[in-house]
Amino acid sequence: MPHPVFSSVPAVAPPRLEVQSLSRTFGGRPVVDGVSLTIAAGQVTCLLGPSGCGKSTTLRMIAGVDTPDAGHIRIDGAEVCGPGLSLPPEARGVGLMFQDFALFPHLTVAQNVAFGLRGDREAKSRRVGELLDRVNLSGYGAKHPHELSGGEQQRVALARALAPRPRIMLMDEPFSGLDNRLRDGIRDTTLEVLKEEGAAVLLVTHEPDEALRMADEIALMRGGRIVQCGSPYNIYNSPADKAAAAFFSDVNVIRGVSRGALTLTPFGEFLTPGHADGAPVEIIIRPQHLKIDFDRGGRGPNPTPMDGTPARGTVVRSRFLGRESLVEFSMDYAGEKLTAAVPGVFLPKPGTVLWLMIRRDRCFVFPA
Ligand SMILES: Nc1ncnc2c1ncn2[C@@H]1O[C@H](COP(=O)(O)OP(=O)(O)O)[C@@H](O)[C@H]1O
Ligand SMILES: [Mg+2]
Repeated sequence: MPHPVFSSVPAVAPPRLEVQSLSRTFGGRPVVDGVSLTIAAGQVTCLLGPSGCGKSTTLRMIAGVDTPDAGHIRIDGAEVCGPGLSLPPEARGVGLMFQDFALFPHLTVAQNVAFGLRGDREAKSRRVGELLDRVNLSGYGAKHPHELSGGEQQRVALARALAPRPRIMLMDEPFSGLDNRLRDGIRDTTLEVLKEEGAAVLLVTHEPDEALRMADEIALMRGGRIVQCGSPYNIYNSPADKAAAAFFSDVNVIRGVSRGALTLTPFGEFLTPGHADGAPVEIIIRPQHLKIDFDRGGRGPNPTPMDGTPARGTVVRSRFLGRESLVEFSMDYAGEKLTAAVPGVFLPKPGTVLWLMIRRDRCFVFPA
C-alpha cells in the first residue's frame, strides 16, 4: 500500500551525472582529492582551474579511462563506478572531445560523424545530415578532413561526439588548439548544439573567459579540490577567497586591521564584520572597479557614501590594451601600488596626479 503521506510526492529524477568524493593519487600524491559534482541534463558545468590541478584526471575517471581510488560516479542514478565496480567507457554513454581530437583522415566527414552510430543506413544518414546541418557544415559530407580548416574540423569532431546521443559530454580544453579569432564563434556554435542535444556537459578549461562564456555553473578547482561552485555571476562577484578572485582578473589589495568590525584605510572605513579585533584583513578590488577622478588643484572629488573617501596617486605607467587601458598608480599614502582599468580612450601620462575611489559594493574582504 502506498505511504499515506508521501504517495502523492512526485518522484524527482536523479541528476544526469553525479560525482561523489572522487579521489585519485599518483605515486602517493593526491591529485584529485574528494571531488563532488552534480550536473543536470542540458546543463553545462565548467571545471575551471590552473594547469596541473587535476581537471583532466577527474574527467578521465568520469569517462572510465582511469579508475579512482575512492568515490562514486552515478549516471541517471545508476552507479557506474564505485568500490569494486567500474563500467568500461563504452557502457557509460559518454561522448568525448579533446584538444587533439583526431578525425580519421581516410574517412570522409560523413563517415567520421557516422563512426559511432549503429542502426540502419537510412537512420544513420539522417542523423549525420542533421548534425552537419547543426554545425553549419551541410554539404561537407563528402570532403576529407585535410580539406577542412581547423575550425571546421573542430565542428566535425563535435558532430561525431554527439552523433550517438551521449547522455554526458566530456570536453577537455576542446578549443585551445584554435586561434583566437575563430574561438568565440566556435564556442557559441558548440554551446548552441550542446543545448539542443540536451546532454549534461562537463567542460574542462584553464581559461576563465571561456568558463564565464560557456558555463551554467563553474566548479573552480585548485590542488585537486573544488574550492567553489556556482553560477559565473556568483563566482565572479562573490569569490570564496583571494585566489578565487585573482583567478579571473588582476586584483588590487588594500591591507588593514579590523577593529570593532571596521577597518580604517586611506580610502575610508570599510565594514569588516566577522573579523576579530586586531585581525589583519585584505580588501580586494578588481582594476575595473576602481574609479578615477581629476585632481582639481588638489581638492579631488567629493566623497560619496558608495565610493567612500578618495585617495590621491600618481600615474606610474599606462598601457593601452585596445578596449581598455591599464593605469598603474603609486599612491600618496605609503603602501600598495594600485592598478585601474579604464576605457581605452583614456591614457593618462606618467606623472599625472589623479584620485582613486573604491566601489564599496565591489570589494571582497578576506583575512590576510
Ligand atoms: N598517469 C599519471 N601518472 C602520474 N602523474 C599523473 C598522471 N596523470 C596526471 N598526473 C599528474 O597529476 C597532476 C594533475 O594532472 P591533470 O589532471 O592532467 O591536471 P590538469 O588537467 O588540471 O592540468 C599533474 O601534476 C600531473 O602531472
Ligand atoms: Mg588537463
